[in-house]
Amino acid sequence: MTQPVALSTRDGVAIITVDNPPVNALSPGVPEGILTALETAERDTSVRAIVLICAGRTFISGADIKELEEAARNPAAAPDLHPLLTRIEDCAKPVIMAIHGMALGGGLEVAMAGHYRVAAAEASVGAPEVNLGIIPGAEGTQRLPRLVGVAAAVEMCVSGRPIKAAQALQMGLIDRVIDGDLLSGAVAFAGEIAGQPVRKTREQNQKLGSASENAAIFAAGRAQAGKIRRNQTAPLAVLEALEAATTLPFDQGCKKEREIVRRVLAGDQAKAMIHIFFAERAVARVPGIPKETATYPIANVGIIGAGTMGGGIAMACANAGISVLLKETEQAALDRGMAGIRKNYDSSVKKGRFSQAVMDQRMALIHPQLTYDGFDKADLIIEAVFESMPLKKQIFGEIDKIAKPDCVLASNTSTLDIDEIAAATSRPHMVIGLHFFSPAHVMRLVEIVRGKHPSNEVVATSLAIAKRLGKVGVVVGNCRGFVGNRMMLPYMREAQFLVEEGSTPEQVDKALTDFGMAMGIFAVDDMGGIDLAYRVKQEYAYLRKPGERVPLVLDKLYEMGRLGQKRGMGWYRYDEGRAPIPDPEVHALIEKTANDAGIARRTITPEEIIERCVYIMINEGARILEEGHAQRAADIDVIYCTGYGFPGYRGGPMWYADTVGLKKVYARVQEFHKLYGHLWEPAPLLKKLADEGSSFAAWDAQKEK
Ligand code: NAI
Repeated sequence: MTQPVALSTRDGVAIITVDNPPVNALSPGVPEGILTALETAERDTSVRAIVLICAGRTFISGADIKELEEAARNPAAAPDLHPLLTRIEDCAKPVIMAIHGMALGGGLEVAMAGHYRVAAAEASVGAPEVNLGIIPGAEGTQRLPRLVGVAAAVEMCVSGRPIKAAQALQMGLIDRVIDGDLLSGAVAFAGEIAGQPVRKTREQNQKLGSASENAAIFAAGRAQAGKIRRNQTAPLAVLEALEAATTLPFDQGCKKEREIVRRVLAGDQAKAMIHIFFAERAVARVPGIPKETATYPIANVGIIGAGTMGGGIAMACANAGISVLLKETEQAALDRGMAGIRKNYDSSVKKGRFSQAVMDQRMALIHPQLTYDGFDKADLIIEAVFESMPLKKQIFGEIDKIAKPDCVLASNTSTLDIDEIAAATSRPHMVIGLHFFSPAHVMRLVEIVRGKHPSNEVVATSLAIAKRLGKVGVVVGNCRGFVGNRMMLPYMREAQFLVEEGSTPEQVDKALTDFGMAMGIFAVDDMGGIDLAYRVKQEYAYLRKPGERVPLVLDKLYEMGRLGQKRGMGWYRYDEGRAPIPDPEVHALIEKTANDAGIARRTITPEEIIERCVYIMINEGARILEEGHAQRAADIDVIYCTGYGFPGYRGGPMWYADTVGLKKVYARVQEFHKLYGHLWEPAPLLKKLADEGSSFAAWDAQKEK
């Protein structure tokens, strides 16, 4: 293996080059290599200054994430960059960090230990640690406020958002933006400052502000953390560490930072967020589909149906630079679809997300039409018409006649049997489900529904296209509701039982949002439409066992025309805003319905609400796993965190079950089974793992072997 760090010289300037593909992470060997090169350069009397630069596509992009995972298991094993950073800062010759690509996390921390930083115009820098439930742990919380001031440091560390070079220059985080060749620019810069006394970041205290100024900044930071990272511990921990920078001398501040890092690493949230980080990357590894499986190149996509989903999928494709044919049956529907797309893009331009020119480019990629013209050249066709089997079969029969042999044929169905749809074609091996979520240009999840037939190449192509659209594709089996909706149904049902037994919709929703769900289930129901929930309930009615308990209130809301947000009333009332307002009429309806049905009402605690709503999902998840309709418990976690608003800091439902302990979860499921009957029948896998004292994570690990 080649050395990850090399040393050369140019014009009396030593150049330390880190070359650790793919992203120059601080893996074992890299910090040591930098240290050795630095000491050699410092001793070399012909060297006046030192530049640290990276090969490949980016500056050091962060810590070695595998090491972080290990550190979450064993906080004492967290990598310690302290000696390297001190050595860099104490170097007698000026050290200039030359940044391109991204300097994130540990990368930014190394950069801040240098005496100067220069960056390519396209570069960005950031402290994204909060996204993993941790905080900068290599003195970043102590150096960053010294360079950019307390308010800017708070903003960067709490949001986790990277900033571009130009802004970093303004803030004082870098010293020059280099146009043209970065290394030449950095060497020239080194020549200018060589011989001047070095400037240590840790000795610069002038931006640390006064106690009273800082109190207001930290209070605002806490408020912001509560808003954008509700219930999360890392943003508060990072504020504590930044606060230490303003009240303690540098060395003591660093000591405090290390204490906080260890505490945060030992917590459940960091473990859960690191789990989800890895789980998102693992979903693309599909058993039986080797990494080298060929994929079909996708340049042209045909979409059938320009409704809610077809329009959203068209935007997702155009946003990724892919040309789209968008087919409808009638001009009016086509016009409506295109108007929706235009309105959406217009609003993004108004909000400054991208320019008018970008919008024009994207609009030009979407070709509305009423015929199949050009579909013979499409590499991928996605059907997004009404949810009707006869209609979908008809459409697949039509495209079978037109599409070229190597065109991937996908359906966006959310409930229908993909094998039955595939059977309407002469090439079931080319047919797959691509289940996008609404709004499809925003939501990151795509369930890739693998029936009996698709070839490995079709599955691999589906994974590749999801990635190209900036989404997370998770392969799931062809079962009713697939994975996400299949678990959602018992969750919704249980929530409705809870209101019949004594809660109000707002009490259930509050318990759920306090738990961390992005939205309460009744608010979700109102958003999706009570008519939709009603239809799904009707459709699945035949699956009910005799005597099975059925929720009673939903049908009444439907009959009353309380169809949800779109009608200004459903489980809640809505005025002009979209915030749900508790409605006494609904309370009365629930009470009367429960009384008429002889259901005893009682006070239900938030703990029970969470157990009933979440454990029923976990139980269903265990069944799905056992049947092989999801490959890993971690895949279910990814589905729930990316598509269903489950809090990432709890790692998804299956990870959460492990955190609670499967013995405990199973015991409660058994109790509910006794109380509420067969809907709570424990999944055999849950029982087995609980009996063995095992976990879903261990089950996943066992399968990977
Ligand atoms: P929608 O009703 O908004 O749009 C369906 C569109 O298909 C309509 O514009 C209709 O004119 C068009 N259409 C019908 N027959 C056609 C044909 N022969 N050729 C071309 N266009 C035709 O429906 P939506 O919500 O977009 O759903 C589409 C599919 O996506 C359904 O299978 C649904 O289950 C699925 N889905 C919907 C989600 C949602 O949240 N709305 C989420 C995930 C999947």
